[in-house]
Amino acid sequence: MVQKSAHVTIDGHPDTIDLPIYSGTEGQDVIDVGGLTKHGFFTYDPGFVSTAACDSTITYIDGDKGILLHRGYPIEQLAEHSDYLELCYLLIHGELPSAEQKNDYVDIIKHHTMVHEQLRYFFNGFRRAAHPMAIMCGVVGALSAFYHDSLDIEDENHRLITMNRLIAKMPTLAAMSYKHSIGQPFMYPRNDLSYAGNFLYMMFGSPCEDYIDSPVLTRAMDKIFLLHADHEQNASTSTVRLAGSTGANPYACIAAGISALWGPAHGGANEAVLNQLTEIGSEKNIDKYIKRAKDKNDPFRLMGFGHRVYKNYDPRAKVMQETCYEVFDELGVEADPLLKIAQRLEQIALEDEYFVEKKLYPNVDFYSGIILKAMGFPVDMFTVIFATGRTPGWISHWNEMISGPYKIGRPRQLYKGPVKRDYPTR
Ligand code: CMC
Repeated sequence: MVQKSAHVTIDGHPDTIDLPIYSGTEGQDVIDVGGLTKHGFFTYDPGFVSTAACDSTITYIDGDKGILLHRGYPIEQLAEHSDYLELCYLLIHGELPSAEQKNDYVDIIKHHTMVHEQLRYFFNGFRRAAHPMAIMCGVVGALSAFYHDSLDIEDENHRLITMNRLIAKMPTLAAMSYKHSIGQPFMYPRNDLSYAGNFLYMMFGSPCEDYIDSPVLTRAMDKIFLLHADHEQNASTSTVRLAGSTGANPYACIAAGISALWGPAHGGANEAVLNQLTEIGSEKNIDKYIKRAKDKNDPFRLMGFGHRVYKNYDPRAKVMQETCYEVFDELGVEADPLLKIAQRLEQIALEDEYFVEKKLYPNVDFYSGIILKAMGFPVDMFTVIFATGRTPGWISHWNEMISGPYKIGRPRQLYKGPVKRDYPTR
């Protein structure tokens, strides 16, 4: 419902242009600028810093207050009382499941964890040294070649089956991409284990010996997935929506999301954080790196700090920090030198004028890499784990868009190239 409107006057333009303003249930109002086109103007907002591209009911972030809500529930409460699969259900269906719905859902997901045997052959085409994100872009996109039975995006039931398949198969593909890199046999999923426990089994189990499940590590894995599950219209989710707006099949859209996530400014940051901590190497070098981060003429950035939306402590980083200590206790590695550097770096950055003034707080990626490393994951798997955790977010945004009226996403531009000129005839 339109409650207010904005009135725009433009130099040299005879009319005042009235633009409706809409309010959501939380957060800033938005000005509907669609009407500007008929007056001969586009809006200009590189990086979408002030642009709401859609309506959504899934996730709300108040970056100034450090609040993250999924379907209204605060992330801290979900991390404490819920689990990853329940959150997947919540993101997709809008409400928490009853006990019976939850059991059914877990059962459905567990029974979709295997991938088609034919898909195994795709892996042979990748070099052992291939980055697992490169493999994920390929094999997730390739799923669309296997499930022709459920690719009608207008059919609600087809969409549901696809969402279940994606959530169920992502850990299997992620673990396969790792096993391929180390030349070990793929481990078939085990449906007697939990979602996170099964992922750890497929990653670290081997056919030669019994796998011993650690409840603490399984809980930490579940929490890592949960904390990454959704983050409203971030770059990869917006990519999924944009790809989906063309009517592309959902596997192709998620493959597009995985590609967008890979960059170091987004999901690739967890890998970059660990590489950077390793490069810093010792607490005595921290000052040098802080100085570089503050130098305007140096492109160097402190990875794991700052966020487009959070101008306060990322609430996910707090939970991640607690999980970090639980994992270190379980593994008995409190003295990890990288954790010490990370703690010191965090302390300095929270007190340093540059970071305080620019509101550069630790983000979710700051601690996740340290935990994952302690759990035995190689650094290049970190972003794959982010992608696995983010799948319900991507897919629920895709489903939300496809379920309602939507238009193909087609931004405009400010053209600054050559004006029309004639091809030179020689
Ligand atoms: N280290 C040093 N300076 C920084 C940093 C940093 N990590 N982040 C931002 N700044 C400075 C930046 O130089 C700029 O300074 P100035 O105003 O003097 O030019 C100011 O802070 C604002 O930065 P920005 O690039 O305009 O902010 P943004 O909202 O476009 O970028 C960001 C957000 C996350 C890309 C950026 O903070 C960054 O590159 N951080 C490091 C990478 C990182 O940790 N990414 C993970 C994000 S959380 C996971 C996810 O959601 O994907």
